[in-house]
Order: sequence, then C-alpha cells, then structure tokens
Amino acid sequence: MAESMKGLRRSKRCGEVNAEDLGKSLTVMGWVQKMRNKGGIIFVDLRDRSGILQVIFEEAECGSEAFEKAGRLRSEFVAAITGSVEKRAGEANENLATGAFELRAKSIRILSESETPPFPVAVDSGTKEEIRLKYRYLDLRNPALQRNLILRSRLTTAMRNFLAKEGFIEIETPTLGLSTPEGARDYLVPSRVHPGSFYALPQSPQLYKQLLMCSGMDRYFQLARCYRDEDLRADRQPEFTQLDMELSFVDIEDVIDVNERLIQYVCRETIGLDVQLPLPRIPWIEAMNRFGSDKPDTRFGMELTDVSKAVKDCEFAVFKGALDAGGSVRGINVKGQGSMARKKIDALVDMAKGSGAKGLAWLAIQEDGSLKSSFAKFFSEEGLAKLVSAMGGEKGDLLLFAADQNPIVWKVLGQLRCELAKSLGLINENDFNFLWVTEFPLFEWSEEENRFVAMHHPFTSPMEEDWHLIDSDQGAVRAKAYDIVLNGVELGGGSVRIHQDDVQEKMFEKLGFTKERAWEQFEFLLTAFKYGVPPHAGLAYGLDRFVMLLTKAESIREVIAFPKNKDAVCLMTGAPGTVEEKQLEELSIRTDGEA
Ligand code: AMO
Ligand code: AMP
Repeated sequence: MAESMKGLRRSKRCGEVNAEDLGKSLTVMGWVQKMRNKGGIIFVDLRDRSGILQVIFEEAECGSEAFEKAGRLRSEFVAAITGSVEKRAGEANENLATGAFELRAKSIRILSESETPPFPVAVDSGTKEEIRLKYRYLDLRNPALQRNLILRSRLTTAMRNFLAKEGFIEIETPTLGLSTPEGARDYLVPSRVHPGSFYALPQSPQLYKQLLMCSGMDRYFQLARCYRDEDLRADRQPEFTQLDMELSFVDIEDVIDVNERLIQYVCRETIGLDVQLPLPRIPWIEAMNRFGSDKPDTRFGMELTDVSKAVKDCEFAVFKGALDAGGSVRGINVKGQGSMARKKIDALVDMAKGSGAKGLAWLAIQEDGSLKSSFAKFFSEEGLAKLVSAMGGEKGDLLLFAADQNPIVWKVLGQLRCELAKSLGLINENDFNFLWVTEFPLFEWSEEENRFVAMHHPFTSPMEEDWHLIDSDQGAVRAKAYDIVLNGVELGGGSVRIHQDDVQEKMFEKLGFTKERAWEQFEFLLTAFKYGVPPHAGLAYGLDRFVMLLTKAESIREVIAFPKNKDAVCLMTGAPGTVEEKQLEELSIRTDGEA
C-alpha cells in the first residue's frame, strides 16, 4: 500500500547530503536504485535528480516494522526515509558525491511501489532507443539525460539574464499563423470556424519579429517553438526551439557584437568555458573553398586545395571534362594515409558517390616514393609531380580528388574531410570552435524549381556594394547574412533585413514573385513597412543544437524531454494519430487513405 506524505517533510535532496549534515537527522525521498538484504542489515541506494545516497537499515536501530518494510523495497519503489547522517562505516565510494556518508535509517514510508521496469533504470544499459523513447519518462530518470535538461534550463536562464541586461524584451508571438511560401513545408492546423481554411504553425517568428520592430519594440527576443515538416536527421526535429532575436537601428557589426558577448556569457555560465573574443569570421566563399562547407568544422585541417590550374593541361578525361564544363578539380591531402588498404579507399570512393560525385580519383604516395593511383596512367611524370606539389603531397600521403561543378566538388570533399577526421581520430572533442560565416550569396539556384530562391529568406538585405549586379549577375550578389557555426554545426543564422521598399520590390521580382503575389502573401508586412520602418536585423539560434553541442550529446533527441523519432513519431504517445470521425466532420475534412 502506498503511504501518504502527511506530516512528512523532505530535508534536502539525496545528492546534497554533505559533511555539515553529520550527526543530524534528515528525511530524504526518492527512488530505490538498489536494495541489498544481507540478513541483519539492509543497504538501500536512494536516488533523486541530485544523486544517490546510501541508506542502511539495522533492525536494532530502526525497529522491526521499518526493517520489514525496507526488506520489501524493490527497484524504482518510491520511499521517504528518515535517519541520521553518519560517516560511512566502510570505505568511501569515490564515484558518489555522497560516497563518504550514509544515512542510518530510523523510519521509512513506502510512497509508491513499482513494477519491474522494462529496462534497467538510471544506468546506461545499452537498451535500444525505440524502447527508451517508448518509456521516455523512465529514460529521463537517467542522470545523463537529467544533466542535459538541467543544462538546457541553465542555458535559457543565462540567455534571459544576458538579454534582459542588454535591453531586450521577451515577447511571445502566435503559433497559429498564416502559411507563407519559401522555406520548409508547413504543419497545418484546420480551422473549424472557417471550413477549408488552415492555420500554419510557424517555421520561425520571422515576420512577427520584423513587425515588432515596426512597432518600436527596439530589441526583442523569444524562446520560440518552431515547426518544420522536413526530412529529419540527428540534428533536426519537426518541432524545435529557437532563441530568436531582432534589433532596430543596427547593422551587422552590432548584431555580431551583442551575440559574441551572449555566447561568451552563456558558455561561462553553463559549462565554465572561456570563449575568446572576437570570434573568427570567414566569408562564405572562403568557407566553401577551404572546407567545402558553409558550416566548417575548424577543429582539424585537411583543407581543400584547388588544383584546377595544376591539371589544366592533363590528358585525364575526367579532370579535363570537368574543367571544360566550367567546373573545378580540387583535392584533400589525407596526411600519413598513403598505405590505406585498397578496400578502405574503395569505401571512400563509394562515400563520394553517395554525396553526388561521379567518382573519386586517388593517389597514394608510398613510403618509398612510388605511387599507387586510380588515374596516374593518364598523367605524364611531370604532370603528376606538379599535381603532388600543388597538394603539398609527401611520402606516406593519400591524395583524393573530385572533379565536377563547384557545388558538387565542395560537397563531396567537404563531407569526406569530416568523415575522415572522425574515423582517423583527428578531432579534439574538448575544442569549442565558434566561427561566423558571412557574406552568403543572396540567391541560390534551385534545380527543382528552375529559378533562383532566397538563400536565407526574401527579406534579407543585399550587400550595398553588390546591389548594382542585381540585374546583370544576380547569382553574384552577396547578402548581409551571417551564420554562427560551432564545431561544424550550424548553430544559428540571421541577417540584416531589407527596409527599403524599392529593394524589397526588386527582390520579389528576382525571386519570380509577381507584385500581386508578393502583396497577397506578405500584405501585412509590406503595408507595415509603409508607416515608418526602422532598419533592423536579427538572428536565431537552434536552442536544441546549442544544448546538444554544450553537452556533447550524440543527437538532438538527447536534449529534448519528449522528442520525436526519425519518422517524426512520438513513440511514447503514438502521435500523430487518427481522430474520431466526428472531429473530422466538425472540421469539414475527409481523408482518403488508411492511416
Ligand atoms: P534558420 O532557418 O537558419 O533561421 O533557423 C535558425 C536556427 O534554427 C535551428 N534549426 C533547427 N533545429 C532543430 N531542428 C530543425 N529542424 C531546425 N531547423 C533550424 C538551426 C538554425 O541555425 N528566422 C530565421 C532567423 C533570422 O533570420 O533571424 C531562421 O529561422 O540551428
Ligand atoms: P575511369 O576512367 O572512369 O575508370 O575513372 C578513373 C578514376 O577517376 C576512378 O578512380 C574514378 O573513381 C575517378 N573519377 C571518375 N569521375 C570522377 C570525378 N568526377 N571526380 C574525380 N574522380 C573521378
């Protein structure tokens, strides 16, 4: 029978017991991690979110009733135990914060019992993630997950404190909004009152925060829940949280300045990390050329080298063909891997093909100076020497080359670079390399839609010095956009917004919107801009990603209390689920498929 709390009061948490409590009588409450009955003496490890305390029952001390009750304890029973704190009789347990103490029990109440849990609770049992997600509430008893959520809370507290000091106001914006094009697919919510009409859950509070600037709020922030119906990965969830902000009367430098100090502050407050300012910055084109990625991991080298010039006169059809088609040939030098087994090299070739390459040309310089290669036969000795020298190749190096249009070459080598660094152990896991990537292209070409789309969003301001190219060379116009990258993950992104209506109009035109359609979609924003809009800019961090990186969690799911799996399903509740026919009728919705 579960007993009540009547007249009981917890003195402190289990893990908080310390030397000052010696000799005192305390009441602790929590879950039974372990119970060992050694005949005349019962040991209980009692656990709460702060840690574990060892409790000892001896019949002579606690009486037969309490002793008998303690003997009934099983894993995950919830108990309240009163006793006195003593120095541990045996050797102290170094692995436990309270390892030098024990509670000599006087009395116990069993507050609730537990069935045998589906997997060992609060230890790393290697249980499959599906099972853990199904019983998420049990999985969350694991100290590692609790630490993540506690750090998450400390991070948001630190963010709020910092931003409040800097004059930001926290404002909530609606989650039932209007569907707007561009960006990912929306999650839709049908309206009952307006049959056939839908709200969209926000992909971000972008338009609202710009309107708040029009309203004169000056500096806004929000911990905003965002929804995007896109393909999921380890660092993506269908619903996630942003630390979203917007500032008035600012340009890039102001946004970067306040955010660098924010990053420094919250890293110190959460994990005691001392981030040196200013953070490094590189333009997008340099990031692509050097790292093959717009979110470079700078914890290791192995940068890309453009060898187009060095191979321009070669006879190798693959390289020649790529150059003739306006592409490039680039390589990475995998230092000291010249003797990599052929099988492993073939696996790299497959990986390259997986990221869109037609192949991967390789050249392995043996310790004796001889070469093994998939393409050397197409090269003169002189030509090879030139190529090796361009790559800084030395005895024992493995050189990998991709030849294609730039975006493919970047992607292929950028991904290989990261995979190789991981598998070769080149990454120092204690590094936190923050980096700004700036000067993004304003547009990117969408093969799918056969038109230019906004790389960030249609309200991003062009760089003044490039605006004259808007009609002659649209693809070359750079944006006042910036991403903050941490260890190869896009932590956040933002931009200076367009506040001049002629620029905005041109932008829509270049994105293939007719004036009518632009007004139809964004009427409220464009109208608001007619009544005095301050120049403004902003940024949003992926909060979940921030916590994931600070805690070194493997996936974003480990820092979200109740995450969805890769198929966007909540394994615990079963969401999404079917609904009653009556609900659909009320919403004037008919479905045509089996669930
Ligand atoms: P953006 O689309 O770059 O910018 O999003 C900002 C940050 O949000 C995080 N993020 C995600 N995290 C988890 N799961 C997802 N599916 C997901 N998608 C994005 C990333 C990303 O850097 N309104 C603009 C910001 C602005 O211009 O101010 C925006 O939403 O860490
Ligand atoms: P092939 O002549 O097709 O056998 O190709 C010779 C070598 O070039 C093989 O190692 C291929 O993997 C490689 N290769 C093919 N296409 C490309 C490409 N686009 N970029 C780099 N290497 C390639």
